[in-house]
Amino acid sequence: MEEIMKRMVRDIESDCRDSAGDKLFEHISCRIKSDASTREKLGRLGVMEDEQNALNSITDSIGIRIVCLFIDDVYECVKVIRNLPGCSVVQEKNYILNAKANGYRSYHMILDAEYDEHVNDSMLHQSYYVEVQLRTIAMDTWAALEHEMKYKKDIKNPELIAGELKRCANDLAACDVSMQTIRQIIKGA
Ligand code: GTP
Ligand code: MG
Repeated sequence: MEEIMKRMVRDIESDCRDSAGDKLFEHISCRIKSDASTREKLGRLGVMEDEQNALNSITDSIGIRIVCLFIDDVYECVKVIRNLPGCSVVQEKNYILNAKANGYRSYHMILDAEYDEHVNDSMLHQSYYVEVQLRTIAMDTWAALEHEMKYKKDIKNPELIAGELKRCANDLAACDVSMQTIRQIIKGA
């Protein structure tokens, strides 16, 4: 699984470039879902814990996150991901245009990735679901903060914090659009 994830990240790093060869992303991170987290999710889905069930029911066993400076770059990367070798798109969700109620924004893609992989000295044709999350730095910072709040049990005034987070999400979204516009003006000048 790790081999496939690393190959995908290498492909993304080489393909997510503009016409001048500059990278369209600020950074890329990836992870394989831990056993504990896989078991927790299978339990939540009400599915028996075995390897085949895990591979069929969990669409984020491999997770790749692409963080960009500008919204335009996010959409350029989306086009690249749609054409990634060995991958087909299973689902796309645009939480940038359709933000979640709490203010969460990102572009999500579920891919079916098929590659030959070394398993115990032999080459096997393997297929995995991969969740790709694409977002701007502003969206990424917000998601990190909101994630912190979600897992903190003893917050005194959760409604107030949630309201402030929502306000921040809207402010950041407006700034992302403004910066995008300013960049276009600078580029066009
Ligand atoms: P799970 O939420 O993982 O059960 O899957 P889902 O089918 O609901 O997919 P969704 O696209 O809603 O979310 C997938 C992933 O996106 C999550 O595991 C998080 O990493 C991220 N995500 C989605 N919503 C939020 C959110 O409100 N806040 C933060 N911080 N991350 C979110
Ligand atoms: Mg969810």
